[in-house]
Amino acid sequence: MPEFVRVAAIGEIPDPGKTLVEVDGEMIALFHADGQFYAIDDVCTHDGGPLADGELRNHTIACPRHGAKFDIRTGAALTMPAVRPTRAHDVKVEDGGVWVRLRSDVSSTGPAAHATASAPVSAAAPAAAAAPTSQPQPLSTAVPSGALCEDSIREMLKEVKDPELFVNIVDLGLVYGVTLEPAADAPGRQKIGIDMTMTSPACPAGPQMIGDTKRVLGAHPDVEAVEVRIVMDPPWTPDKMTEAARDQLGIF
Ligand code: FES
Repeated sequence: MPEFVRVAAIGEIPDPGKTLVEVDGEMIALFHADGQFYAIDDVCTHDGGPLADGELRNHTIACPRHGAKFDIRTGAALTMPAVRPTRAHDVKVEDGGVWVRLRSDVSSTGPAAHATASAPVSAAAPAAAAAPTSQPQPLSTAVPSGALCEDSIREMLKEVKDPELFVNIVDLGLVYGVTLEPAADAPGRQKIGIDMTMTSPACPAGPQMIGDTKRVLGAHPDVEAVEVRIVMDPPWTPDKMTEAARDQLGIF
């Protein structure tokens, strides 16, 4: 089992404050808030963002890359695009210093101990927030119909959901643009272009969302071809979501 490692003197970190420390070769974000110290991995579970560089408010740290928020007491992911907790570690205060012991697991209730300057080891942290629990629905098998235009195409694309978040790509703000042009070799039919972004460059859900987009639009009798172009500039940010998506994800 890992040992506690002294990472800082008590007075080194203001309250509220944060710093980056190394424990057993791993980079750990150390926080001081309301008189207590907390430690979590310096890794956002969405796409590896450096949490120690984020903005600390009360007991919440915001990832500087796409805005996911984590509870510094438990490592719980509080808002998307992160849906999995990051590891929280044990902390104690002793001999004028702050000590951290790495935990190997991601606990649903956070670390066993965090520490205050006046009371070396205190009780367990509150429970982690729950990640979305609904399941993805299969794509509709109904054949789409009606005139093709940007609005009708966006409506059809609401069939396509991010498989991690279970929210459709239109309400997530992932569809940047829609183009239509007559298919030269198929009179009366259209070629559709979709400019789509991802919540992160390495989004593992990308191939599935691209495939679903082509399947949904390609089922329309007037569609000859569908091209999906991935666009990362401007990068996706949470403010691109609609109110409907925010409601679905419990973000206020
Ligand atoms: S890397 Fe943290 S929110 Fe995307």
